[in-house]
Amino acid sequence: MIILIGYMGSGKSSVGKVLAQKIQRDFVDLDAYIEEKEQRTISEIFETDGEIKFRMLEHRYLKELLEAIPNCVLSLGGGTPCYAGNMELIAHYGVPTFYLKASIPNLTDRLWGERKSRPLIKYQESKEQLMEFIGKHLFERHPYYSKAGVTILVDGRSIEEIATEIAEITLA
Ligand code: S3P
Repeated sequence: MIILIGYMGSGKSSVGKVLAQKIQRDFVDLDAYIEEKEQRTISEIFETDGEIKFRMLEHRYLKELLEAIPNCVLSLGGGTPCYAGNMELIAHYGVPTFYLKASIPNLTDRLWGERKSRPLIKYQESKEQLMEFIGKHLFERHPYYSKAGVTILVDGRSIEEIATEIAEITLA
């Protein structure tokens, strides 16, 4: 298994799909897996059960995937590394992790148009507010993201380039 981590909008799913094709593995997106198992969207889970319940489900399904589909390329949710000892769990399974690191302005540009589908940022009213939120949030999350084995800078690079770099590291 190869795990991709990074903030919302950093390209984990897009890169994961291309990477999986390149190295001939299945691709799994943890959020999509949770939605399929629970038969609800992530937004619905946040609204009806709250974030803490979501984090418990996220942990449970991460563990299930580590056991059940050990050969896939797995992209996590933006917050997965920061809760429930998930990075320690991943380390326990010896799975390599790649952090897709994007800058705050880049993330703001990418997320502004899509914020409504993401429960944690949907109420940001202006781009400036969103940028400030992302800045603080990344500061809190940095200690967890920095536990990744490899950090890949993604600003200004294509999905293809990033996937190729990770494939080369993986196959080396
Ligand atoms: C979250 C990121 C989302 C999703 C949920 C919470 C976060 O995943 O898991 O909305 O805490 O950053 P993406 O990073 O795939 O958007």
